[in-house]
Amino acid sequence: MEKTRVLFAASECVPFIKTGGLADVIGSLPKYYNRDKYDVRVIMPRYTCIKDIYRDQMEYVTHFYTGFRFREQYIGIFRLVLNGVTFYFLDNEFYFSGSWPYGNTYDDIEKFAFFSRAALSSLPVIGFKPDIIHCHDWQTGLVPVYLNDYFQGDVFFHKVKTIFTIHNLKFQGVWNIPTMMEKTGLSSYYFTNDKLEAYDAGNMLKGGLVYADRITTVSDTYAEEIKTEFYGEGMDGLLRAKQAKLSGIVNGIDTAVYNPEDDTDIEVNYTVNDCIEKKRENKLLLQKELGLKEDKDAFVIGVVSRLTDQKGFDLIECVMSEILSLENVQIAVLGTGERKYEDMFRYYEHAYPGRVSANIFYSEALSHRIYASCDAFLMPSLFEPCGLSQLMSLRYGTLPIVRETGGLKDTVQPYNEYTGEGTGYSFRNYNAHEMLKIVRYAKETYDSHRDAWNAMVVRAMEQDFSWAASARKYEALYDELMEEKRSEEN
Ligand code: ADP
Ligand code: GLC
Repeated sequence: MEKTRVLFAASECVPFIKTGGLADVIGSLPKYYNRDKYDVRVIMPRYTCIKDIYRDQMEYVTHFYTGFRFREQYIGIFRLVLNGVTFYFLDNEFYFSGSWPYGNTYDDIEKFAFFSRAALSSLPVIGFKPDIIHCHDWQTGLVPVYLNDYFQGDVFFHKVKTIFTIHNLKFQGVWNIPTMMEKTGLSSYYFTNDKLEAYDAGNMLKGGLVYADRITTVSDTYAEEIKTEFYGEGMDGLLRAKQAKLSGIVNGIDTAVYNPEDDTDIEVNYTVNDCIEKKRENKLLLQKELGLKEDKDAFVIGVVSRLTDQKGFDLIECVMSEILSLENVQIAVLGTGERKYEDMFRYYEHAYPGRVSANIFYSEALSHRIYASCDAFLMPSLFEPCGLSQLMSLRYGTLPIVRETGGLKDTVQPYNEYTGEGTGYSFRNYNAHEMLKIVRYAKETYDSHRDAWNAMVVRAMEQDFSWAASARKYEALYDELMEEKRSEEN
C-alpha cells in the first residue's frame, strides 16, 4: 500500500531551534508515526541562529528563485535526516538571519508569509508531493491560503489536504490590511470578514482557521475553552462555527530524551524503583549547584518557564512572600521573558539567600536537573494549550502544582487523600490565595504524610506521556482526510 505523505510546516523544531514547547512537539511527534503507513517530513526555515553543529550537517539539495514582493527571491533547500525523519530547511539570509527566530511582528509577518509561500514552491523542486500539509501556529497560517490562491491551478497541489494545529491562540500575526496585502501579496479579495480580516486588521492565524480542512489543538480542554470568549482571543465565534472540524489531541513528550534512567544532564540516574532516595541525592546536588541551603528535607519547588503572564506569574508575585514564609520551602527558577518577572525573582533571590535561586537564562541541561531534583513543580497558568513542563516533571517524579486549565487539567490528576489517587495538585480559579492554599496543602502532605507523597511520586513516574496514543489519533485524522480525498477524486 502507498504511504500517506505528510508535510509538517513549522517555525521551530528541536534539536535545531527552540523557543518553547512548539519546538518540542515538531521535533518529537514525527518520530512516533507508524513508518510503514505514513511518510512524515518537516519543513522549516534555515535560520542563521541554528547552531553550527546542525547547520554543518545539512546537505545542500538545490536552490531556485521565486517571485515574492516585487523581486525574485533566492530559496536554498537543505536536507537532514535525523532519527529516520527527513527535515527540509529553507535558506534565505534576508529573512532568516539574526540571533533569534522571531523579531518584531511587522518583520515577522513578511518573514513567515515568505516561508509559507516558499515551502509550497519548493515541494515540486524537491519532488515531495504531500497528501496532507500539517501546519502549526500562525507562522504557517497562510499555507492553506496560498494553496487556495497561487497554487490552486497547479496539478502538483491537486487535492492537497491541510490541517492547522493551534499551539497558542494568543499569537495570531496581525497587522493593518494595506500593509498585510503588501507583505503577503494577497489581494483585497482575501481581506473580508469571512476570510483573513478580523477586527479591521489582517490576521494570518485566521487564514489557517478559515482555509484548513481540519483544525486541531493540543488538548481536549483547550479545544473546548477556545470556543469561549475568555480563552478565544477574539476567534471564539469562528471556532464555534467551525467546531465540527475542530478537535483536541493532547501533546506527548519525547520519553527517550526526557528519561531519568539515562539522562546525561542529571547527576544521579534513577528509575521508578529507586526514585525516592536518588531524587534526594539529586536534590542535594542541585541545592549545591544553585547556592540553595543543602537540606534533604527542604521542600523544593521548581519553575522552568517563559516568564510571561500566560504562565501565572502574577499569582506567584502576589503571594511569593507567603510561600516563602512556609518553613523550609525553597524555590528554584529557570526562565527568561518579561523584565518585571525576571526582576521579581532576582529580588527574592537577594531577599532570601539560600532559599530562592533565580536563573534568568536558557539552559536545556539545567532544566533537566530541575525537573529531576525538585519535589514539586509550580505552573499556575492563566491559560495553557497543553503544557509540556508539567509532563516532564511527572516523568521525573516531581509533582506538578497547576491551575485547572487547558492541558494542565487533562494531564495532572489532583491528589485525593481519601482514595490515595492523584499525580499532583491543582486549583481552579485564577486566584493567588487559592494557589497558596494548594501549595500549603502539598507541603503538608510532603511534611506529614511522606508515604502518601512518595507513593504519588511513583504514580507520577508510571504515567504514560509518550506520543504513542496521540500519534495514533493524528494518524486517524490523516486517514479521515485521505478518505475524503479519495471520495472527491471518484
Ligand atoms: P510554552 O511552549 O508555552 O513555553 P511548554 O510547557 O509547552 O510551554 O514548553 C516549554 C518548553 O520550553 C519546555 O521544554 C521547557 O523545559 C522549556 N523551557 C522554557 N524555559 C526554559 C529555559 N529558561 N531553559 C530551558 N528550557 C526552558
Ligand atoms: C504552546 C503552548 C503550550 C504547548 C506548546 C506545544 O507554546 O503555550 O501550552 O504545550 O505550544 O503545543
